Amino acid sequence: MKLVIDTDTGSDDAVALMLALGNPKVSVELITTVAGNVPLNLATENALATVALMGSKVPVYSGMAKPITRELHTAQNVHGPDGMSGAQIPRTHLKVDGTDGVTQLIEISKKFPGELTLVTLGPLTNIAAALLQDPQMLHRFKDVYMMAGSPEGWGNVTPSAEFNVWCDPESFKIVLNSGKRLIMVGWNISRDAAVIGAEEEAKIRAIGTARAAYVIDINETLAIFCRDITNLPGFDLPDPITVAIAIAPEMIRKSEFVSMDVSCSEEMRGTLIIDRRHTAPAPNVDVVWEADRDMFLNSLYEVCKDSSNPANYIPAQRSGK
Ligand code: RIB
Ligand code: CA
Repeated sequence: MKLVIDTDTGSDDAVALMLALGNPKVSVELITTVAGNVPLNLATENALATVALMGSKVPVYSGMAKPITRELHTAQNVHGPDGMSGAQIPRTHLKVDGTDGVTQLIEISKKFPGELTLVTLGPLTNIAAALLQDPQMLHRFKDVYMMAGSPEGWGNVTPSAEFNVWCDPESFKIVLNSGKRLIMVGWNISRDAAVIGAEEEAKIRAIGTARAAYVIDINETLAIFCRDITNLPGFDLPDPITVAIAIAPEMIRKSEFVSMDVSCSEEMRGTLIIDRRHTAPAPNVDVVWEADRDMFLNSLYEVCKDSSNPANYIPAQRSGK
């Protein structure tokens, strides 16, 4: 399968990129970066560093540096100032292929009409900017998977809003109104099926490769945020499970095709509105309600087993762990 990934590369996005780039059944045709978790330059650097770790030559283009109408509020409190927990990832000799990521999304959709699966891992700013230029763009993608939203209303930025939607709700609304059937892997799925607790962390460490160490090292700050703020029994991986589901939709155990809108008001910014009345507008989003945790974890362990280390990543030295 051919994937296009749009990412605001923080630490969980990086693991998502590893799952895609390390899967022999997947050809990642394009990566575009967007401001979100971190400012655009860091999102781009983190993506390039992860692409280098995976030994990939996939084109990487940067896109929008701020939400379509609002100022950028990052999630550096969640992923660390650099988005990667301050891990010593190689950041030299990283070269982005261009800064016209929005145009690249439009162009690649025309190059491979009906063949590409788009996976969005950050705010929908690049996608909305592309739709404003080319309203038919998303219809040229086979499927569109979004890590976005808290469909059941349990937010991670406010009590009811998930970060990717909250960061740029206007862009999310543009995508919702595109006419394309969208697949939402919300933060509910991350909490239910993608939390890396002590047992899973030990299994990853025991793999002993540079890739395994990278997964743990770059998510150290996220683990602290989850412990202290979102009260999860480990660090959760929303973007990786979204990529895993896009690659293997059989992981979906339950979904519902609903009519969805989003609030752009200040008090309810980023809150999703699902309308199940008979008078509701036509459904536009397949909300994933349940996914297979074991299938996800196995895909993560599998990609960590490869002992290659082309970027010469040196795992963090840990006392006692
Ligand atoms: O709310 C989780 C989402 O926000 C993930 O994509 C994470 O990387 C952040 O962008
Ligand atoms: Ca992300």
